[in-house]
Amino acid sequence: MTELIEPTTALHRSWLASLEDWGRGVHQDGSGIRDFDDFDSPEGFARFVRRLHDEADPDIDPEPGRVDTAYWWMAEGDTILGSISLRHELNDFLLEQGGNIGYGVRPSARGRGLAGWALHEVLGKARDRGLSKALVTCHVTNPASRRVIERAGGVFEDIRDGRLGPTRRYWFDLR
Ligand SMILES: CC(C)(COP(=O)(O)OP(=O)(O)OC[C@H]1O[C@@H](n2cnc3c(N)ncnc32)[C@H](O)[C@@H]1OP(=O)(O)O)[C@@H](O)C(=O)NCCC(=O)NCCS
Repeated sequence: MTELIEPTTALHRSWLASLEDWGRGVHQDGSGIRDFDDFDSPEGFARFVRRLHDEADPDIDPEPGRVDTAYWWMAEGDTILGSISLRHELNDFLLEQGGNIGYGVRPSARGRGLAGWALHEVLGKARDRGLSKALVTCHVTNPASRRVIERAGGVFEDIRDGRLGPTRRYWFDLR
């Protein structure tokens, strides 16, 4: 059974396997990874997991330029298959390009409907958290993500250019 689970240090080994699948240094959308993260040591991995929890905590002020963000891992038993994030609000950059939700599926698990399923789940969580609408975006050269968003019912608004390059923007009405 595939589930969305909260990040946990218990899956360190599985995280490393997923990291090798993606390729080290490859951007993993929706994961919250930053350049300085160290996943190899248990201490470094624990710091990463702690930061993901802290970013979701409304009692902890987000860093400048960031907003509160919740992260989940797509997992089948102890195997991590992907990540998905929900940004609770939109700042200028997120409204233009980044959107509320980001996701990524490890290469070996793609094409099984995981991203579509996870997006549906997180749209439900966004509704439960009181969001009335959610913006989901994809680069114009990302047909797989475009398909995921359109299948989930996203309503296309426009394409905007910025530091992410030309980006398709879709809205989900959550009321
Ligand atoms: C985009 C991504 C999340 C999709 O994950 P996934 O679990 O494989 O997605 P799903 O299986 O739910 O659906 C993929 C859909 O795209 C379609 N697709 C895949 N590659 C495609 C392509 N090159 N052209 C057109 N459609 C494509 C699939 O056929 C499927 O559509 P279907 O359900 O109608 O068959 C995954 O490819 C990924 O992690 N990519 C790298 C990170 C990324 O781009 N994240 C999104 C940022 S906006």
